[in-house]
Amino acid sequence: MNNNLQNIPEHIAIIMDGNGRWAEEQGKERIYGHQNGVQAVRNAIEAAGEAGVKFLTLYAFSTENWNRPKEEIDALMGLLVKAIQNEMDNLMSNNVRLQAIGNLFSLPIECQNELKDAIEQTKKNSGLTVVLALSYSGRWEIVNAVKEIIKHDVNENEITENSFATFLNTKYIPDPDILIRTGRERRISNFLLWQIAYTELFFPNILWPDFKKEDLFEIIAEFQTRQRRFGKTGAQVQSEI
Ligand code: IPE
Ligand code: IPE
Ligand code: MG
Repeated sequence: MNNNLQNIPEHIAIIMDGNGRWAEEQGKERIYGHQNGVQAVRNAIEAAGEAGVKFLTLYAFSTENWNRPKEEIDALMGLLVKAIQNEMDNLMSNNVRLQAIGNLFSLPIECQNELKDAIEQTKKNSGLTVVLALSYSGRWEIVNAVKEIIKHDVNENEITENSFATFLNTKYIPDPDILIRTGRERRISNFLLWQIAYTELFFPNILWPDFKKEDLFEIIAEFQTRQRRFGKTGAQVQSEI
């Protein structure tokens, strides 16, 4: 556990990548990797809760993931329903609130219903908020925001960076302090494009099913050693502390 209680990140976002390769390395089907990824999700939620993080956004299924073979998509959607059902007691006893972002209406109806129920049941929990990104992509979200702005007849001079952000799915969520991508790739794959403008990036050299609580604690500890400058000089930031 990380003992530095100063400067705890408020929001951590994770691209949970590498399930398929984890399974293939053991000569198993890709879905076996997704099944084992559920334990890593549990680890991340527990660690974030213990560390005092307020928001944990998990990239579970991208807009582009709809292009995968149908049987993998079906297995992933089934796994999602099962995981939500199995984890409900845990979420309640850990005071976790569940939310979701993305094009949720494109999900199979049983996923939509399961999600809706879980969001409703956990909405009064006041600990960690876990945000599942499902059928989500950053470009989809930005285009969606533009459509909403047009629908609401918003005047050109009312559009600022702050007002634009209120049309995004993440309107109640602060921008991530930390973005983690497992799976040994160093790319964003269309995740939270608007929100990560000044996020600190981490690419641990592990596949998602191997992600442990300690991995999150280590990343938080490294985050606490980084100086975020937001465009200013190091000396300016130092003098503000
Ligand atoms: C991440 O693991 C999970 C999803 C994208 C749903 P992958 O399924 O992408 O695993 P790799 O990257 O092929 O190993
Ligand atoms: C990103 O992983 C999406 C999720 C983890 C849900 P991908 O496996 O889809 O990303 P690419 O295709 O390697 O960029
Ligand atoms: Mg992948």
